[in-house]
Amino acid sequence: MFVKSAKFYDALYHFKDYKKASERLTEIIRSFNPEAVSVLDTACGTGKHIEHLQNEFRCEGLDINHDLLEIAKQRCPDILFHEKDMTEFDLGKKYDVICCLFSSIAYVKTYENLRSAYSTMNKHLNPKGLLIIEPWFSKETYRVNTITANHYDEKEMKIAWMYNSILKDDMSVLDIHYLAGTPEGVIHFSELHELGLFDDSQYRKAMQDEGLEVHYDREGLFGRGMYIGIKNL
Ligand SMILES: C[S@@+](CC[C@H](N)C(=O)[O-])C[C@H]1O[C@@H](n2cnc3c(N)ncnc32)[C@H](O)[C@@H]1O
Repeated sequence: MFVKSAKFYDALYHFKDYKKASERLTEIIRSFNPEAVSVLDTACGTGKHIEHLQNEFRCEGLDINHDLLEIAKQRCPDILFHEKDMTEFDLGKKYDVICCLFSSIAYVKTYENLRSAYSTMNKHLNPKGLLIIEPWFSKETYRVNTITANHYDEKEMKIAWMYNSILKDDMSVLDIHYLAGTPEGVIHFSELHELGLFDDSQYRKAMQDEGLEVHYDREGLFGRGMYIGIKNL
C-alpha cells in the first residue's frame, strides 16, 4: 500500500482539510485530558496532522512507509519520526495521547492485529492517556462494488485515480488505478489496498480488553466517527 503512490500522496488527498481536522482533534484531546502535552501520531503518513498539532503539543510520528516518512521529515524538520509497524513497536517511552487517524487502523487487516496494535499503543500511554482511533467502515456500512473516482489538477501535475470497492475474505479491498502526469511524462500504476472491516463492537471490545474506558464521537474528524479510549490509572 502507498508503495508506488507515496510521492503523490499529498496531491491525492489534496481535498482533505488537515488544519481543521487538527483543530477539532485538539478540542477533543483537551476535553478528555486538558493536561495532555505529548502526542504520538501512529500511521502518520506525510505528517499533515503533525504539521498543525505541533503548535499545541510535543509530537512524534510513526509509520511503516519509508517514503511517506521522508516527506513528513521535510514537512516537519523538528519532529522525531519512527519507521515502525504500529502492531509491534517499542519506543521505550510514553505519551499522553496516541492517535491513529484517517482510518489507517484498518490496514492491520485482522482483529488479532487490531488487538496487537491496541496493546502496543496502550503500553506507550501515560496514566490518564488517550488512545484516539478514527475507524474505517464496518461490514454494514461498507458499500460493495461502488466505483470511486478522484481528480487532481495543477499546472505541473495532474492525476486521475479510480477504484472499485470489493469485498474479499471479509475484507475491504480497493484495487486502485492511477494515471499521473507531470512534465516528465504520464505514468499508469495500480495498488491493492486491503483493510479490515471491523464493527463497532470490535473497536470497543479491543479497547475495553486493554482496560480503557471507551467513548465515541459520532462525527470524528471526517464524518467516520472516532473512538476515544481513556487510561484511568
Ligand atoms: C490513509 S493513510 C493515512 C496517513 C495519515 N494518517 C493521514 O491522515 O494522512 C494510511 C497510513 O497507514 C500507514 N500504515 C499502514 N499500515 C501500517 C502499519 N502496520 N504500521 C504503521 N503504519 C501503517 C501507511 O503507511 C499510511 O501512511
